[in-house]
Formats: sequence, C-alpha cells, structure tokens
Amino acid sequence: MLDIDAIRADFPILGRVLPNGKNLVYFDNAATSQKPQCVIDAMSNFYENYNSNAHRANHTLADEASSALENARSQISNFFGAKPENMIYTSGATEAINLVSYGWAKNNLHNGDVIVITEMEHHADIVPWQELSKEKGVEVRYVPINNETFVLDMEAFEIALEGAKLVCVTHTSNVLGIRNPIEDIIKMSKKIGCKVLIDCAQGAPHEKINFETLGADFLAISAHKMAGPTGIGCLLTSIERIQEMGPFMTGGSMIKKVTTDGSTFKDGHAMFETGTPRIAEAIGWGAAVEWLEQFKMEDIHNHVHEIASFAGNEMKKIPGIKIFGDPSNKDSSGAVSFLHENIQSQDLALLLDQGGYAVRTGHHCAQPLMDALGVPSTNRASFWIYNTKEEVEGFINHLKYICERFG
Ligand SMILES: Cc1ncc(COP(=O)(O)O)c(C=O)c1O
Repeated sequence: MLDIDAIRADFPILGRVLPNGKNLVYFDNAATSQKPQCVIDAMSNFYENYNSNAHRANHTLADEASSALENARSQISNFFGAKPENMIYTSGATEAINLVSYGWAKNNLHNGDVIVITEMEHHADIVPWQELSKEKGVEVRYVPINNETFVLDMEAFEIALEGAKLVCVTHTSNVLGIRNPIEDIIKMSKKIGCKVLIDCAQGAPHEKINFETLGADFLAISAHKMAGPTGIGCLLTSIERIQEMGPFMTGGSMIKKVTTDGSTFKDGHAMFETGTPRIAEAIGWGAAVEWLEQFKMEDIHNHVHEIASFAGNEMKKIPGIKIFGDPSNKDSSGAVSFLHENIQSQDLALLLDQGGYAVRTGHHCAQPLMDALGVPSTNRASFWIYNTKEEVEGFINHLKYICERFG
C-alpha cells in the first residue's frame, strides 16, 4: 500500500497556490511528472559541489562527475533489467527513436523493406520512419485501432507484419491510456525474425519494464515522465544491435582518433553519446529511480488505475462528455482523454485551469490518432502516484459545474 500523504510531501510543487488563489491540482502527468525533492537536491548538489565535465580531465571534480554519470547508468539500467553496456543516454524517448532510425535502420534496412507502426503512435514514433521512408524507400505500414474499443486491431497487425523488418509500437498510448499487448507483438515479430522497438515513454512510469525478459530489440525511455528531470532518457538495446549501428551524431566524446584524413569511433554505447554528457540530468534520473525503488511499480499501477477508473466512470455520467479509451480496463495507464460536445477543448481547459486543474489539451503529438478518432484535439487528465481520489472528486464537481453553466 502506498502512503500518498508521505509521497505528496516529497513533491514541493504540490503545495503550490496558483495566482488565482486556487491550489494546484496537477493532472498533466502524461506530459511530464513532477519531481521529488531528492531529485532536485541531487541536481543542485552536483552544481553546488562537483560540477565539472565528465570523461575528460583528471582532477577531483572531473572524477566525481564521471563516476556519478556512470553510477547513474548502472542504477538506471539495473532498474530496467538491463546492463550498463545496453544503455545509451539520449535526450529522451524522441532521441532514442531517432537513434534507432538514423543509427540502426538507416544502416540495416533497404529500399522496399517494411516498417510496421500503429495509428496510435506519438509523432516521435512516426516522423523518423516517414523521413527514413523518403531517404531509403522503406514502406511504412500503419496498424489501425478499433474505433469502438480503441484497442489496436491485432488481426490487422498480423497482416501488416507479413515480411516486415521492423515493428515500432508504443507500450501505452499517451492519448487513450490503452496498453498494447506488447508481449504478443514482440513474440509474433520475433517469430519471423523482425526487429522490435517499444516506445516506453508512457509505460515506464506505470509498470516495471524489464529489458531482458521483454526481449525487444530496442526500448525507448524518457526520464521526465517518471519523476526524473527533462532532457534525458535512454535507448536500451542489445550488444548485437549496437554492433550493427553506425554513428548518429558525430563530434567530441564518441571518437577514438581524429586526423585531417578522417576519424575512427569508439565502440559500444560510447559511439552514440556525443559531446558533453547530460551529467546533472543523469544524476537526477538516478535519484528518481532510487526514489521509485522504495515502491512496487505494481502498487503505483493499482493506485493510478483506481483513481483513473473512478474518474472515467464519473465523467461518463456528465451529460455531453465523451471519453476516448477505457480507463476502467485494468491495464490502462492513468490517461483519460475526453471532450465535451458543445464546449471547445481549449475553452474547457481554461475553465478547468480557473479551478486549479492542470490538464493537457490539443492533439497530444498524435495527429494520425486524432484523424482516426475524427476529432482535432482532446482534453486529457492524466494521473500518477501522488494524485488522490479527493482531487478527482473536486475535479468532477468543477467539470460538472462548467458543463452545466457553459454546455
Ligand atoms: C508515447 C510517447 N512517446 C514519445 C514521447 C516523447 O518523449 P520525450 O519527451 O522523452 O522525447 C512521448 C512524450 O509525450 C510520449 O508520450
């Protein structure tokens, strides 16, 4: 069981009073989570006491910074059931997917090869494949969702998979909160020798992701949605895949030798970590992982599921509100997308903000999914570990008031 009061006390921002005098109620966790004090402290401590560049100089501070960067790598990779050599630091899930596209796919896929993605992908898992298609002539197949249940059409997936070389699927939809059957997807793909990338940006804050047992070729992970800082994430991949990759960004840190005739590159993950590393961010992410390790991810999932399904059920009762997704499904994450039939989503978000409720509005970087749903945008309330049923009750009352008054 989670002690939510104690958890909330770790997050200074949750005590914030907004300029209009309302207490902040933060329901925009699928965009980014809040950060506990220990993460803020770990980053400040780096800047206050041992700020230095890593893997360069020999002085004390440089040694401390280098050790902290590598300790964080061990801690984070271990959290995800991987080894440090499986982990490449990136700026987030977006860069991790681009790294697969430019570093692996560009060197291993050819004209006419097929990449399977889905209609529910975030733009981060669509645009890199469209760009690769322009450059290399690969074919991108989109698997549709079922418009009534909102789940991925697995029959269509099976058909699309035929002859595919790479499958790129989101673990959990950032809009619908629906978790895809990634274990089946990985198994089916592996059976035909097809490589698999799972975008875990939304999955990692809600369940234990294990690189080893999942068996996907690539996992893209973002720190900032799981209590870590912005600007950092990673790609987890096997040594075999790393050996098939070519450099993505070139410059300092990733080279063995540079002469006026040309350059040679480091082996392993070092080839893909170019320039000054994200040292403070890695340290902050390490602290976030350590903070998360005091809980069972299953407890976090159950807590979030309880409040998201309560929110979904109550929202469904409000005349004019339509929900996209199935928040009461046991596997769903805490994202609840909704619209009011008469109130514009932007207006609704502003009216919710007046009550202190922070929700996301827009296409959520998932325009093909918006097209499939037949809407230009949705409102989205997304919950995490520190949200409470009382906050949701207040939200429902405020939403009811808005709908009665303006709907
Ligand atoms: C499903 C999904 N994939 C990728 C991303 C991009 O992640 P990042 O912000 O780490 O680049 C997001 C962010 O919202 C997301 O929800």
